[in-house]
Amino acid sequence: MGRSTPAFSFSLLASLALGFVLVVQTQQNPGFISIDCGATNAYIEKENNIAYQTDEGFIDSGKNMQISTEVIYRTSLQLSKNLRSFPNGTRNCYTLRPDRGKNNTYLIRASFWYGNYDGKNQTPSFDLYIDTNYWSTVGSSIFFNEEMMYVSQADDIQVCLVNTGNGVPFISALELRTLGDDIYRLGSGFLQLHWRYDIGQSSKTYIRYPIDVYDRIWTAKNYNLWFILNTTYAIDLSEDNDAYKYKVPGDVVRTAQRSMKASSPMYLQWTPSISTNRWIVYFYFVEIERLADGLQREFTISINDNQIKTTVSLEYLKPVIVVSTAVTGSLISFSIESTNNSGHPPILNAMEYYTFSDLSNVPTAQDDVKAINGIKVMYYIERESWQGDPCVPSYYKWDSLNYSYGNPPRIISLNLSSSGLKGLIATSISNLTAVVSLDLSNNSLTGSVPDFLAQMPSLRVLNLSGNNLNGSLPQTLLKKKPKKKGISVAPIIASVAAVLVLISLGAPAVLWIIKRRQIQNGAAVTTTTTFGGSTGTLELSKNRHFTSTEVARITDNFRTIIGEGGFGKVYFGRLHNGSQVAVKMLSQSSKQGYKEFYREAQLLMVVHHRNLVSLIGYCEEFENTALIYEFMSNGNVRQHLSARNPNVLTWSQRLQIAINAAQGLEYLHNGCKPPIIHRDLKTPNILLNENMQAKICDFGLSKAFVTEQDSYISTCPEFHILGHSSQKSDIYSFGIVLFELITGHPAIIRSPEGSMHILHWVTPFIERGDIQSIVDPRLNDQFNISSVQKAMEIAMACVPMNADERADMNCVLSELKECLTVEIISGRSQRMGNSERRSEFDTTTMELDSHPYAR
Ligand SMILES: *[C@@H]1O[C@H](CO)[C@@H](O)[C@H](O)[C@H]1NC(C)=O
Ligand SMILES: *[C@@H]1O[C@H](CO)[C@@H](O)[C@H](O)[C@H]1NC(C)=O
Ligand SMILES: *[C@@H]1O[C@H](CO)[C@@H](O)[C@H](O)[C@H]1NC(C)=O
Ligand SMILES: *[C@@H]1O[C@H](CO)[C@@H](O)[C@H](O)[C@H]1NC(C)=O
Ligand SMILES: *[C@@H]1O[C@H](CO)[C@@H](O)[C@H](O)[C@H]1NC(C)=O
Ligand SMILES: *[C@@H]1O[C@H](CO)[C@@H](O)[C@H](O)[C@H]1NC(C)=O
Ligand SMILES: *[C@@H]1O[C@H](CO)[C@@H](O)[C@H](O)[C@H]1NC(C)=O
Ligand SMILES: *[C@@H]1O[C@H](CO)[C@@H](O)[C@H](O)[C@H]1NC(C)=O
Ligand SMILES: *[C@@H]1O[C@H](CO)[C@@H](O)[C@H](O)[C@H]1NC(C)=O
Ligand SMILES: *[C@@H]1O[C@H](CO)[C@@H](O)[C@H](O)[C@H]1NC(C)=O
Repeated sequence: MGRSTPAFSFSLLASLALGFVLVVQTQQNPGFISIDCGATNAYIEKENNIAYQTDEGFIDSGKNMQISTEVIYRTSLQLSKNLRSFPNGTRNCYTLRPDRGKNNTYLIRASFWYGNYDGKNQTPSFDLYIDTNYWSTVGSSIFFNEEMMYVSQADDIQVCLVNTGNGVPFISALELRTLGDDIYRLGSGFLQLHWRYDIGQSSKTYIRYPIDVYDRIWTAKNYNLWFILNTTYAIDLSEDNDAYKYKVPGDVVRTAQRSMKASSPMYLQWTPSISTNRWIVYFYFVEIERLADGLQREFTISINDNQIKTTVSLEYLKPVIVVSTAVTGSLISFSIESTNNSGHPPILNAMEYYTFSDLSNVPTAQDDVKAINGIKVMYYIERESWQGDPCVPSYYKWDSLNYSYGNPPRIISLNLSSSGLKGLIATSISNLTAVVSLDLSNNSLTGSVPDFLAQMPSLRVLNLSGNNLNGSLPQTLLKKKPKKKGISVAPIIASVAAVLVLISLGAPAVLWIIKRRQIQNGAAVTTTTTFGGSTGTLELSKNRHFTSTEVARITDNFRTIIGEGGFGKVYFGRLHNGSQVAVKMLSQSSKQGYKEFYREAQLLMVVHHRNLVSLIGYCEEFENTALIYEFMSNGNVRQHLSARNPNVLTWSQRLQIAINAAQGLEYLHNGCKPPIIHRDLKTPNILLNENMQAKICDFGLSKAFVTEQDSYISTCPEFHILGHSSQKSDIYSFGIVLFELITGHPAIIRSPEGSMHILHWVTPFIERGDIQSIVDPRLNDQFNISSVQKAMEIAMACVPMNADERADMNCVLSELKECLTVEIISGRSQRMGNSERRSEFDTTTMELDSHPYAR
């Protein structure tokens, strides 16, 4: 986050008045958590009567440090004198447990002052995370606050410092304030503070707790161009007033500025360092001048040339709060301008500037988080990575466990082999209900093997050998194992073989394993898989989950292969209700395919459109991973264009296919936020159903929620820039598809002389204006030449070398519809006996949408 001024600068702190003695509260400030990081004792800050605690109980890692004695005299504020630094581990997290728990709004403020504590004179830079989401990058040499308004997603809130390789992270203070009345709550995201101004204030440098019960820090601000005013009268903060729930302090709004005369607007602007930032501005207005009878101050607030416009009229001493909707741009400007019937200059009492950020990374399932933390506490597991969310973001996943991606992600394997665990087997393990593989071998676990292990629904691999467990195996566990002793392999259901293995390694050791055979080749494997990567806004639950047994039944034991891709084989299947499906299995040998397979699943679970092939369900069971799609009985477009296909597609069918595909692509580019780039559009990836309706498939290379490195930033500006250029690469691919539809040739034309790209083949003909020679001879002249000509022009508009010159999907789509109109009209006029082909039509009179060809 680059910003031009710190929200709260060191000089302000330094100028604090000293010697002000307040009555020390015996009870802590309710709803507050105030940590002076690096402090050795708890204390009450005299300046504001806030009780600060040490780090204890909030974080285990890191060490306490003090800022350099050369600069320590510059500050009177105790919390800035020391800090906690984190030389070890990539991610170190504070855990805050506010009383109100989840789904409540909190102000969270982290303070930093490097103060050359390490004597290196080099300010480090590192990232700050709020739970699983990126908050900000810290790298300031002066005292600095990062502050946000956050709606907690879980009972705990974690603030994490992430080492990005640019120095050792540290923190000076961490504060949480519980807000009431659902204020500062805008959708599912957080508001990051940039500035908060008490306008017209001239007696204090800032106002905070106890004057502001929520401990917002209002910095005094006076603009030279404007007139300063203030009042000593009490502001009306009664419950029937707008401002009541914001609890904005009277001292803040009793001061204001107004423009010099009624005809001059108040005008402010700034240039954000990131133009994609979504700005939200809170304006506070109170009439503090007593105006002559009957007159009222009235003004209009406009942001970014009327992007947002609202009119406010004020009553004496009654506050009005205006919250803008999100504005973006490389220049943000707003004006407050008197209306003609006001006759008084516009006024402004206070304001807050925030940017809105999404919470794109869904945290791990809370029951899993609680269970794994229970295990961590019970066995005193101290590992650098065991902080923050166990699985998200995947960069900072805890060691020794793996998870399945999904909404929410789940822990699916835990390997605490040789980890020095002592004591009984932790009951919290029973709450890791998605765990498939559990390895607690080679520890010092004692007691008996608990019954709950047999109840764990997904557990397939359990290794308890090398412990001091006693007693016998619980009956329930025994029921799961086959009769034979030793290693045995016994297929249970069809080809999905659940194999129970009991290995007796002498009295104290128990090992129980269920192996699951791989479907395709029958080779038994026990590898676990990471369903790593992105989380996005996936909703797994919307799609049906199938067990591997069901998959085997649906596909009649994988009887009919209808295709084979990079991931593995695609089988024909039939659901209970008789509807036909295609079942894509992820082959075990396709390690690389995992990412793409999951990317596709993720995308299709959130994105739905009639021209995108739809996902019906999925199977995610240990090694058996399958995606189940609607069945597209007419195969792919490439097959239809092939010279071997006796049923030649007509020109209007081809146009219809192009329009369908264009609609699908247009939806991905313009209907999805952020836009989705297919990246692998080609005729084999356009499928046709029984009605010859075309749908795009194969989203394995698509990009949307995921960036190259990982998934967790969906709002980063680079992404949009990337998105822009890659959209144009889809357009290029679409142009090639159009050329294939026109010519019937594949993208790479193979001949005895060698291979040639279709574009190289068509270009000389187009340059000569010779359209007839390009058109698929199998169309047998059954087309309207101007329709084909237009299609050719559209295709050409898609393929310029310079991506910026390529058309956009919206435009391509509407032009294609016109092509179809031309073709249909000409077809109709032919049927009506008019054999003369018209070359120009007034397409504007056509109601394309009412025509059955237009969907
Ligand atoms: C960092 O790790 C080293 C080596 O493991 C250890 O000696 C040191 O105490 C650790 N420091 C902190 C602050 O945890
Ligand atoms: C969270 O709180 C809001 C407002 O108080 C409420 O409308 C919403 O239903 C709550 N959501 C959950 C999941 O409890
Ligand atoms: C109000 O205005 C008076 C006179 O201009 C000034 O002395 C005083 O400091 C102002 N009060 C505040 C709170 O700004
Ligand atoms: C206000 O008055 C000015 C000049 O008399 C006029 O140009 C403007 O359109 C008026 N605005 C409105 C909103 O009536
Ligand atoms: C997690 O998955 C990786 C890659 O598949 C594997 O190497 C590792 O052993 C797994 N870890 C656990 C704890 O299962
Ligand atoms: C657990 O990890 C150990 C090594 O740390 C490895 O030997 C063992 O195979 C793993 N167990 C499983 C079930 O993957
Ligand atoms: C068991 O753990 C010890 C250390 O705790 C280690 O030295 C040994 O190699 C481990 N044995 C196996 C089989 O992993
Ligand atoms: C398991 O989860 C349930 C529900 O969240 C909770 O009530 C229970 O205490 C948990 N059990 C253990 C052993 O952690
Ligand atoms: C179970 O764990 C022990 C000790 O870590 C190991 O030697 C053994 O190979 C494991 N068994 C299986 C089947 O992975
Ligand atoms: C198992 O060991 C525990 C102590 O580790 C003991 O209390 C218990 O009686 C033992 N149970 C059996 C069946 O030996």
